Amino acid sequence: MKMSNCLNGYSWLMTFLMLCLVARSQLATDFYSQTCPNLLQIVRKQVQSAIKTEMRMAASLLRLHFHDCFVNGCDASVCLDGSDGEKFAAPNLNSVRGFEVVDSIKTAVESACSGVVSCADIIAIAARDAVLLSGGPTWKVLLGRRDGLVANQSGANSGLPSPFESLAVITAKFVAVGLNLTDVVSLSGAHTIGQAKCLLFSNRLFNFSGTGAPDTTMEDTMVSDLQSLCPLNGDGNITAPLDRNSVDLFDNHYYKNLLNEKGLLSSDQILFSSDEAVATTKTRVEQYSNDSTLFFADFVNSMINMGNIHPLTGSSGEIRKNCRVVNS
Ligand code: HEM
Ligand SMILES: *[C@@H]1O[C@H](CO)[C@@H](O)[C@H](O)[C@H]1NC(C)=O
Ligand SMILES: *[C@@H]1O[C@H](CO)[C@@H](O)[C@H](O)[C@H]1NC(C)=O
Ligand SMILES: *[C@@H]1O[C@H](CO)[C@@H](O)[C@H](O)[C@H]1NC(C)=O
Ligand SMILES: *[C@@H]1O[C@H](CO)[C@@H](O)[C@H](O)[C@H]1NC(C)=O
Ligand SMILES: *[C@@H]1O[C@H](CO)[C@@H](O)[C@H](O)[C@H]1NC(C)=O
Repeated sequence: MKMSNCLNGYSWLMTFLMLCLVARSQLATDFYSQTCPNLLQIVRKQVQSAIKTEMRMAASLLRLHFHDCFVNGCDASVCLDGSDGEKFAAPNLNSVRGFEVVDSIKTAVESACSGVVSCADIIAIAARDAVLLSGGPTWKVLLGRRDGLVANQSGANSGLPSPFESLAVITAKFVAVGLNLTDVVSLSGAHTIGQAKCLLFSNRLFNFSGTGAPDTTMEDTMVSDLQSLCPLNGDGNITAPLDRNSVDLFDNHYYKNLLNEKGLLSSDQILFSSDEAVATTKTRVEQYSNDSTLFFADFVNSMINMGNIHPLTGSSGEIRKNCRVVNS
């Protein structure tokens, strides 16, 4: 009796230690090397073809990975259709893009290796390829995520940062998913590519809420350019480049813009110009504006951190057949 108790205790301890090991190294770069050896080439080819059709798609795929990972972890929950989907949450509605491209990658992957590769991993690889094909850095993507069984619309509404929030609130949302201030600054550099709608920054151009706009931290010619592009009572869906210097090129000009008061969103410019930035993010912005090698290295590290947010592994979740619906 005593002996078997002891053995049970021992094997329980071993199981616990092994679970700890598994939990620390859930994802691996070679996860599909046996089950889907051509995965990376297949995804690369599809991303290449998508951005040949529309260069902006690189930015959209990168953002899709971010919006996936910040809500219930990187589990492709963002892809689920249905009225309770994350697609209909405020930060995503009429804004997040790239689902058709994820579908076409998934179709190509399924025809090579059926039922093996998760949608969450496809999005992570596509985001990496999007950065590389835009002139940015590359890295080995950790793989082995599984797909979630539920969408979380309220989680998307509360967990995704808004461009109108303070640096403290945005930072808290990063900290809530295990990221830190370095990640806030380096990942914001994703705004070196892509576009944003007028309705997400026109409060900086016009004094319609008594805020005293135009924003004194936006450079004068940029204010007047954007006032023409985004007139009062105009179409809020018109878009402007997040990086005025090189909208399709992944470089460190986003940070140079911030030094010149040419950040598009309030959430961009506050990284350099706000009072809160002095003790938190301003020095980082200066460093990245001056040293693109440092920016690239930190961006890669932060992308890996973001890709590690609460992955489903083992027997959690599933490998979805269609990225838009849970398996029946
Ligand atoms: C720091 C907090 C962040 C805020 C407040 C924010 C906010 C926004 C907003 C408002 C837009 C424009 C959406 C639209 O017009 O429909 C946007 C676009 C974009 N965001 Fe962010 N973002 C943040 C962080 C990130 C991160 C961490 C990434 C990726 C690592 C990212 C990648 C992008 C990209 C690439 C675009 C352009 C998408 C396109 O052109 O389709 N953002 N972001
Ligand atoms: C949705 O997200 C919120 C905030 O992260 C979390 O507290 C909640 O448990 C999530 N709900 C589901 C059903 O996953
Ligand atoms: C954030 O985490 C990284 C590791 O990913 C670390 O190198 C960096 O110093 C941390 N930054 C802050 C401000 O704590
Ligand atoms: C902005 O509008 C408020 C009233 O809504 C007014 O008091 C203020 O002077 C205006 N500021 C500028 C810079 O026009
Ligand atoms: C933007 O486009 C969406 C979808 O086409 C539409 O529902 C919405 O009314 C438009 N918003 C503005 C401000 O024009
Ligand atoms: C940029 O680097 C140069 C030398 O490498 C240095 O003199 C300068 O102060 C730096 N500027 C900023 C804004 O960090």
